[in-house]
Amino acid sequence: MCQKIPPLQYTIQSMGQVILTGDRPTGKLHLGHYVGSLASRVRLQDQHRQFVLIADSQALTDHAHEPCKVRENILEVAFDYLAVGVDPRKTTICIQSLIPALPELTMYYLNLVTWNRLKHNPTVKSEIQQKGYGEEVPAGFMIYPISQAADITAFKATLVPVGDDQIPMIEQTVEVVRKFNRLYNTSVLLEPEAVLSAQARLPGLDGRAKMSKSLGNAIYLSDDADTLAKKIKGMYTDPGHLRVEDPGKVEGNPVFTYLDVFATDKEKVRSLKDRYARGGLGDSTVKKYLLEVLEEFLSPIRQRRQEIAQDPKAVMQILHEGTRVAIEVAHKTLVEVRQAMGINYFT
Ligand code: TRP
Repeated sequence: MCQKIPPLQYTIQSMGQVILTGDRPTGKLHLGHYVGSLASRVRLQDQHRQFVLIADSQALTDHAHEPCKVRENILEVAFDYLAVGVDPRKTTICIQSLIPALPELTMYYLNLVTWNRLKHNPTVKSEIQQKGYGEEVPAGFMIYPISQAADITAFKATLVPVGDDQIPMIEQTVEVVRKFNRLYNTSVLLEPEAVLSAQARLPGLDGRAKMSKSLGNAIYLSDDADTLAKKIKGMYTDPGHLRVEDPGKVEGNPVFTYLDVFATDKEKVRSLKDRYARGGLGDSTVKKYLLEVLEEFLSPIRQRRQEIAQDPKAVMQILHEGTRVAIEVAHKTLVEVRQAMGINYFT
């Protein structure tokens, strides 16, 4: 992990489209993140110019009281990225709060959106509910979709690989872009498009629709083999499947959803499903196979992560270099934005 990372040199024109995506550093990343967007990032980095933002400013919108947690998780998230194969020679990994153009763009965009529209952003609405904020929602949290529009447009990204919960953010960004370009009679900003993974979102261990850190139903990329085994053992299956000989439900059974996603032997999964549905196949047998499958998937990631985590300074260096590049790119857009608005006073 001590090898020197060559400086990022490609120009935006030299490769496909521009991709921007990111994560809030509030915890380690889990299989839901992998399925929802990490896998696409690894795939897309070869054909496109990709930026990945560690969104610490956005994390602070609901973690203002825990800046240390955010700080610590910047490295954890970076370890996860590198462990799954996000390659810093192909992808610029950067830290949001260190890019001054982003809050400045946010300020200008905020004037193009109504308070009423912000209140109706479905993602924000459901997060407010989940966190129990009611009317006491931090103002910074209310406006984070606009700061996300700044993230995306600052890099002139047209592709945004995200989980489906983020679609309203992309829609709101498109609205900002259209409004800006129309109002200032320009084409400086580009409309982004969400890249959704072919795989629907991964359910939680408890069978709820979404795997999520805050719901406590996640398998982390960094979970050790014992933790993984325990989690799988305690997984929700079909509550009506009490005895081995009972017919079980495959539909909505997360054990089978995970097998569909991660098992390469599709034939075997099909025959397990058949036997389970007919009756005569115990949960523990299916879970044992799932453990094998997930262990095979996670163990190389876990091993790489351990190696990478041994040299946190080298990882900070990667983030430093990526952030330096990102600052430049975002600043260029900011200059164009100010020019389009006619507030470029001294040029
Ligand atoms: N909102 C995203 C999340 O919670 C993180 C994020 C911040 C992001 N800025 C972004 C995602 C820009 C895509 C593009 O996971």
